[in-house]
Amino acid sequence: MIPIFDRRSRRAASHIGFASALALGALLATLNVVAASAADVVKVGIVIPMTGPFAAIGREVAAGAKLFVEQHGDVVAGKKIELIIRDDGGVPDNGKRLAQDLIVTDKVSFLGAGITPTALAMAPVVSEAKVPTVVLLAGTSILTERSPYFVRASFTLGQQSAVMADWATRNGSRRTVGIITDWTPGTEASKVYEQHFKDGGGQVLDMLRIPLASPDFAPFLQRARDVSPDSVFVSIPAFQSVALARQFSERGLDKSGIKLIGPGDIVDDDDLAGTGDALDGVVTAGFYSAAHPSKLNADYVAAYAKATGHRANHVSVGGYDGMNLIYLALQKTGGSTDPDRVIEAMKGMSWESPRGPVAIDPRTRDIVQNIYVRKVEKRNGEPWAVEFATFEAVKDPVKEATTQ
Ligand code: PHB
Repeated sequence: MIPIFDRRSRRAASHIGFASALALGALLATLNVVAASAADVVKVGIVIPMTGPFAAIGREVAAGAKLFVEQHGDVVAGKKIELIIRDDGGVPDNGKRLAQDLIVTDKVSFLGAGITPTALAMAPVVSEAKVPTVVLLAGTSILTERSPYFVRASFTLGQQSAVMADWATRNGSRRTVGIITDWTPGTEASKVYEQHFKDGGGQVLDMLRIPLASPDFAPFLQRARDVSPDSVFVSIPAFQSVALARQFSERGLDKSGIKLIGPGDIVDDDDLAGTGDALDGVVTAGFYSAAHPSKLNADYVAAYAKATGHRANHVSVGGYDGMNLIYLALQKTGGSTDPDRVIEAMKGMSWESPRGPVAIDPRTRDIVQNIYVRKVEKRNGEPWAVEFATFEAVKDPVKEATTQ
């Protein structure tokens, strides 16, 4: 006969076993849920300048990226998208450190890169860790050659500068002067512009370089005027366009017959409303205008204005399209974030953007897009860059020229 003690203890033992089995089961189930939800979260770390001289354009990128997620939901291919935005202040070393931190600590599956100098600093980190990195802002051609994990959703300055030179020479410009910011994107813009302007039968009288940190355009505009060009090509970062417009009209260049031309940055939509009449009639070559006539763009401009109180511009559309590219890639991989599968999925991807049709060049991982020739005109009393000619599906001319 089994002693009561034993029977009790056995019953007790089996009861305890059942309880702990239940508890263990519950614990495992919880762990499973945690593990599943961690696996189902895809983190996207965006490294951009939210403070410092480039803060305006960093905020525009962030606003574009957030708007895309708001409009399209934060779940794609069964994955919950978590956006993490980090401020690099426009300082390359910060960009590198933040990228490392996002990879190691936050375990991001994607990165978004901002201006050229910080994106260049991030390149070795991105390559070593194999993190697909969408270039949301930078416009320098060399970037995508610095890492096989860079894919560009922004633009290249060459795309716009080539079209600007081709259009200007076809429309009678023969004597030009360039004024460019002394940094990598400016240098690239000037090289492409010069080459295309000469190929179009024109003469480049001078190429003046303005320091990035202290842009006083007046002396450069005066020097340009002194050699009597018929056009002045200006390539500067987007956020400097108000100062340029003011000094251009203060110097009387707007009335001199010398045409101000350049990439879209000089008529940045976000600043255009603040330039008054100074840029009336200015012709630029750009990939995005808030006045682009499509329903998708009108809806985008309205939603962006509602969310931010600003006019959407060529910078914010990079953040918006960058997120679109990540969503499309995840849909194509069925939610897999395997870096090589993601990059393969991005190559050749095409979609309709607020800027018009776009695609990723499978060879270079650069964006292929229409470049529009636009003229600043007033609509309801406000200046807009109104498109009047289209150069379709323009590839990055720097790579086209060197690697064909
Ligand atoms: C760049 O970082 O390459 C860049 C940023 C802003 C611009 C143009 C180029 O307006």
